[in-house]
Amino acid sequence: MQFIDLGKQRERIQEKLEKRLAKVLAEGRYILGPEVAEFEQKIADYLGVKHAVACANGTDALLIPLMAKGIGPGDAVFVPSFTFAATAEVVALAGASPVFVDIDPDTYNIDIRSLEAAIAAIRDEGELTPKAIIPVDLFGLAADYAGIGKIAAREGLFVIEDAAQATGGAQGNTMCGAFGDVAGTSFYPAKPLGCYGDGGAMFTNDADLAETLRSVAFHGKGRSQYDNVRIGVNSRLDTLQAAILLEKLAILPEEMELRQKVAARYSDALGDAVKVPVIPAGNRSAWAQYAIETPVRDRVRAALKEEGIPSVVYYEKPLHLQEAYAVYPRTPAGLPVSETLPDRILCLPMHPYLTEADQDRIVATIRGAVK
Ligand SMILES: Cc1ncc(COP(=O)(O)O)c(C=O)c1O
Repeated sequence: MQFIDLGKQRERIQEKLEKRLAKVLAEGRYILGPEVAEFEQKIADYLGVKHAVACANGTDALLIPLMAKGIGPGDAVFVPSFTFAATAEVVALAGASPVFVDIDPDTYNIDIRSLEAAIAAIRDEGELTPKAIIPVDLFGLAADYAGIGKIAAREGLFVIEDAAQATGGAQGNTMCGAFGDVAGTSFYPAKPLGCYGDGGAMFTNDADLAETLRSVAFHGKGRSQYDNVRIGVNSRLDTLQAAILLEKLAILPEEMELRQKVAARYSDALGDAVKVPVIPAGNRSAWAQYAIETPVRDRVRAALKEEGIPSVVYYEKPLHLQEAYAVYPRTPAGLPVSETLPDRILCLPMHPYLTEADQDRIVATIRGAVK
């Protein structure tokens, strides 16, 4: 059994993929070929945003918006501590300071009160200027954008949605990737929409910002490739990856439905034995991960391993406790959820093609271990 089985999906679209790839190879437009623009248009339509700008990976999809906004030394950017390192790393790479905020114990997304406390403390200290918030749609569930939007409006902060794990998720009628001033996502192979290598994209409804993002991603180009109006980076989605993504995007809506079924089946079967994911009303998770919590996590993990069932602890250590990030500020409210969740959490195999038989075996093993 695999944690995320990409093989079944590949078999399903193999012929179409081969046709697409053969076309790219025959045409030879490996950089910025027509598939890239076609994919940008199709994913923008799917998400309901005006502009999609593809780039090389999900990390760049967060860094480029910071560069586009000129966020740098002396600026504070508020990030959850319980996330993948890239969320905070880009802030440090831009020369600004990540400020670590705790997460909500149910949704695992940025905690609004902890965020408010962090902003107030940074303003009081007066050393850094609050500039932006990067909420993460962790495991595929949208952050609390109503709450975040109010704070951002009041404090004049720019919001960059980290939707790396959430393509296909939604909150109300809005798709993940369409929140904030700009969003970044990742097409790393294991993501809900993944390619066969690295890839990413940024989404916004702001035409001027979209143009600046495109410029930053292309060495700060101006009117032409050889007119450099700002310092940028080299960050593009390969034409081959765009071709793959076009075929994968075509089946994403159906795969999202399959993921909902897998998740509902897990929650029905495990809800009385462990803490299962809490999805607030009106949300649809993209189910990048299906995470359970149990005080006997290590026992459960060992039992699964014995049965040949893979499981993963996301994340073993929150970022504010990592050596690389120890120097950065954190919310004065403390980060008790981020600090204790790593002892209880466990992510189970999750993908659209998980069979009921495999799921039953996972469930039985977990139930046996927590008894
Ligand atoms: C929350 C989060 N942000 C950012 C990234 C960075 O994406 P990438 O690996 O494509 O650079 C990832 C995934 O790896 C992620 O999970």
